[in-house]
Amino acid sequence: MRLKKITLLSGDGIGPEVSHEGEKLLKVIEELFDYKFEIIKKDFGGIAIDKYGIPLPEDTLDSCKKSDAVLLAAIGGPKYDNLPREKRPETGLLGLRAGLNAFSNLRPVIAFDSLLDSSTIKKEILSGTDLIVVRELTGGLYFGKPKGIEIRNGERVGFNTMLYAESEIRRIAKVAFDIARKRKKKVTSTDKANILDVSQLWRDIVTEVSKDYKDVTLEHLYIDNASMQLIKNPRQFDVILAENLFGDILSDEGAMLTGSIGMLPSASMGDGSFPSIYEPVHGSAPDIAGKNLANPIAMILSIAMMFKYSFNDERIYDTILKSVKNILNEGYRTKDIQQDKCKLTGTVEMGDLICKQVKSFNCKV
Ligand code: IPM
Ligand code: MG
Repeated sequence: MRLKKITLLSGDGIGPEVSHEGEKLLKVIEELFDYKFEIIKKDFGGIAIDKYGIPLPEDTLDSCKKSDAVLLAAIGGPKYDNLPREKRPETGLLGLRAGLNAFSNLRPVIAFDSLLDSSTIKKEILSGTDLIVVRELTGGLYFGKPKGIEIRNGERVGFNTMLYAESEIRRIAKVAFDIARKRKKKVTSTDKANILDVSQLWRDIVTEVSKDYKDVTLEHLYIDNASMQLIKNPRQFDVILAENLFGDILSDEGAMLTGSIGMLPSASMGDGSFPSIYEPVHGSAPDIAGKNLANPIAMILSIAMMFKYSFNDERIYDTILKSVKNILNEGYRTKDIQQDKCKLTGTVEMGDLICKQVKSFNCKV
């Protein structure tokens, strides 16, 4: 029996709803496979601000650190938008990432055949897209100092610093190359080396690291060109390596290739000293919260990633992924990926369908 402790941070908006579907799936996995989960629920984000005045209470971070994995749904909402920066839900998220040293953020972008019509991009461009964005998550503009807003020459100036130590670039580059080795063996590193010094260093270090990966092809693209190429011909990409902010932007762009940001899972991991975080890329979507409209697939696929990367269990990863594909092939859709003549379902029904599919699929194996 494999006992796994999971801290679940349901957060805000649609967070609790998609978490609920995730918990259902974990129960099914307990029934079918050799696992027992201890799920510890903690407050994080807006709900923690409401209760304790801060987005990331110590007790929450502590529980995360003591777990085998962290499942995070979504945080934030308009209610918190005007709080001082240090009290905002997003600051809590950065604190969690930094606290767990989760420097490596993996965001797979797979264009499911059955959803090709849901994207705003033409089918023939999209078909066959299967790439992964490797985003550096604890450095760059998000964390660099100095930063702030201050008075200079009688007016306010705002500034942030895009700063990377070579060790930070080296470790994320290695992650990208290691992943590429198990895929189509190509890394596209993005930067703005024609303008930014920090990007020049990024490019130099990535090139250096590539010497240890002779079997992997490395190309460098300027970030503006890369974002254009991602729309023009997404199939050309295998692993896209990006610094924190560039990766944030590129991964939202990537999400739209899949038809909806409600489809995109992610994993954030460090060097193994702390547990990894699994999280849908979508936000808390307060406008649809509590209406049974949210798409739980990103959460469900994030759980699949947890099995692959934290529990080294490709078998369950494959089972979940195939189950999602089958349900989509059968025409079931949540509102965000609605199509003509589809079978429209709510959050709960989509969760039920996928759980049922996991069960029947597993019985056939
Ligand atoms: C993401 C989000 C976060 C980020 C926000 C909520 C701080 O956009 O995970 O992509 O910018 O990293
Ligand atoms: Mg983002």
